[in-house]
Amino acid sequence: MLIKSKPDILPSEITPESVYHDRRRFIAGSLSAAFGVASVGLPGLASAADGDGLRAQAPTDLVRSAPAPWWEDKFASIAPAVKTGGFSTSEPLTPYRDVISYNNFYEFGTDKGDPIANSKQFKVDPWSVAIEGEVEKPGVYTLEDILKPHALEERVYRLRCVERWSMVIPWVGFSLADLIKRFQPTSKAKYVEFFTLLDPETMPGQRSRFTTISWPYREGLRMDEAMNPLTLLAVGVYGNYLPPQNGAPIRLIVPWKYGFKSIKSIVKIRFTETQPDTSWNMLAANEYGFYANVNPEVHHPRWRQDMETRLPQTLFSSSRIDTQPFNGYGEQVASLYKGMDLSKNY
Ligand code: MTE
Repeated sequence: MLIKSKPDILPSEITPESVYHDRRRFIAGSLSAAFGVASVGLPGLASAADGDGLRAQAPTDLVRSAPAPWWEDKFASIAPAVKTGGFSTSEPLTPYRDVISYNNFYEFGTDKGDPIANSKQFKVDPWSVAIEGEVEKPGVYTLEDILKPHALEERVYRLRCVERWSMVIPWVGFSLADLIKRFQPTSKAKYVEFFTLLDPETMPGQRSRFTTISWPYREGLRMDEAMNPLTLLAVGVYGNYLPPQNGAPIRLIVPWKYGFKSIKSIVKIRFTETQPDTSWNMLAANEYGFYANVNPEVHHPRWRQDMETRLPQTLFSSSRIDTQPFNGYGEQVASLYKGMDLSKNY
């Protein structure tokens, strides 16, 4: 983001029209082949999920099975009918191929294709999440402990990157609020801080001599933002496990904020009394604020924020749309910022 100024999408980064055209058939084929499961997930996909022709389209280097055996059961709980959490949109979904191949995950490199190419050694089993700070029940919890009590649900959210591209993505996960309640924050807990895994051995971006980020990647939310029902902990996408490049095994999704708040591959959640440091803000505070609410009236020094390109951009449509305040989620979240000057608290 800071390193590259690339407001427009290169033609090579765009899904060919032929692939996009029959999106549902493509997705169904990809899912069944790429994950070795029979049509997990999305309603309406099951009947189109077989057929060798479709399977052949799946990128074979992405074939993944469940990160751990118990994950099979967890994900089986969302099939065959995905429960929706009531959060959805009728906007067309961004094709699976784009969601998993056009990524920002600087731990694996700064180009959009780096995360998928460089995350093959990344291991998500075993995985644990440390819960620290102002809570009654701190500790290090295995991922299974973290997930066990939560029913997974699907939510289709818009994702708006500060670089002016956006996607519409069907995530699988559960409310962060439900997790937070389990650990019983104290009255001093005013903010929540999140950290990504630090592992230079499997994350080449962390050992790069040219890196500008001080690792591990970190993000933060105010407590009321974290407790908002929209705030999601995602463990899956398109009805199946998150691939490494999308933040496996567990990541945050805050749909009314720029994408950089949606921190990936979380290993630590800390409750604090004071506003935590966040990676991009530490790097360039004048460009990336703590709040980072999507705001068409407050421009980034290099990217105007009143327009965005909805991916995939095709040869036949510019895919340019107006950016909405709070990324279109104002009804749910605008009240959180009542009385605040959002041009100062950007
Ligand atoms: N989390 C970590 N740990 N490292 C990152 O580089 N990039 C952020 C966010 N989470 C990033 C991260 C940015 S800039 C965006 S736009 C989103 O992830 C992209 O999510 P996606 O690749 O799943 O679309």
